[in-house]
Amino acid sequence: MAGEGEIRRIGVLTGGGDCPGLNAVIRGVTKPAQDYGMTVYGIADGFEGFVEGRAKELRNTDVSGILIQGGTILGSSNKGDPFHWTVESNGKIEIMDKSEEVLRNYKAWNLDAVIAIGGDGTMHICDKLTKMGMNIIGVPKTIDNDLDATDLTFGHDSAVYVVTTALDRLHTTASSHHRVIVTEVMGRYAGWIALNGGLAGGADVILIPEMPFSWKKVYDKIHKRELMGKRFSLVCAAEGAKPAGGEITTKGTDFKRTDPIQLGGIGKVVADKIEENTGRETRVTVLGHLQRGGSPTPFDRILATKFGCFAIDMASKKCFGSMVALKGAEITKVAIKDAIIKQKLVQPDDQAVLAAKAVGITFCED
Ligand code: F6P
Repeated sequence: MAGEGEIRRIGVLTGGGDCPGLNAVIRGVTKPAQDYGMTVYGIADGFEGFVEGRAKELRNTDVSGILIQGGTILGSSNKGDPFHWTVESNGKIEIMDKSEEVLRNYKAWNLDAVIAIGGDGTMHICDKLTKMGMNIIGVPKTIDNDLDATDLTFGHDSAVYVVTTALDRLHTTASSHHRVIVTEVMGRYAGWIALNGGLAGGADVILIPEMPFSWKKVYDKIHKRELMGKRFSLVCAAEGAKPAGGEITTKGTDFKRTDPIQLGGIGKVVADKIEENTGRETRVTVLGHLQRGGSPTPFDRILATKFGCFAIDMASKKCFGSMVALKGAEITKVAIKDAIIKQKLVQPDDQAVLAAKAVGITFCED
């Protein structure tokens, strides 16, 4: 338990939505562990497995060859918040606090610390468990790149790569058929994937949650391109993008999830409106979970490996209640409680926004 003696037994879990690079972190934690005289326990399915008592020792052989694998060998869940544990009975959802179960398993497994790899939701849970006396180290992940305390999260580069290659392919078919193609990408509250993917893939319009858009400006852009002889356009829309004064487009709610709102559908809304108001044939492509799956890019493999190795070193130095972070070119640590204060959102004067505008990409902000 907290601060007593040597650090020998480390739990590791992956929480929330998966992303490329999780396995590289697990490997980066597990391979060096024996040099520190530590044993690593892999907790199954994030906090769900922590509550339910599912874990097993991870050996070098378990993590051998996983660097290039997408997903997580441990399994993950975005429904296992121990402080907001949901049980459904007779069509009713009951919310329970299962944090004592987590503490009980932590003690039963004789853990000295836990390395929790996750996004914003996972870090909020980590903060609460730290306050209950558990030794926690956070490792930030999310394709959305919306954690403010780190310059980048691994997984983002892989997602941007998927968007870029998709836009490259959509470019040629849009151009051949003189169509508008709207590509819907992930990004609930932060538009980094749409911004960076749209910039790399040469989108003509980028729609992001931080800049509510004007419908008229979207149509004007398509007309303007036609006047220039460009009879096709590519629109890259984050799932959380919304028109000024309008609402985000949702698919439904699931109260078992840490964030109950399920986004999706803005791509079709935008495509329909464009076709109706410009007369241009329009198609929509939703990239969805393609952005979360598959092998990590070299950049993400390197960042995730550095994060994992740094986390196990932090454990040896008893830097608990902290999260690994990238600041400039350096891997460092920040207090988890400070890491969850605010989300990292795209600012209108971000250099990527300015560069995009300089090369003619429109955000159509109202
Ligand atoms: O948080 C990452 C994210 O990719 C969001 O952009 C997206 O809304 C969400 O995950 C989808 O998660 P799932 O379909 O797994 O519930």
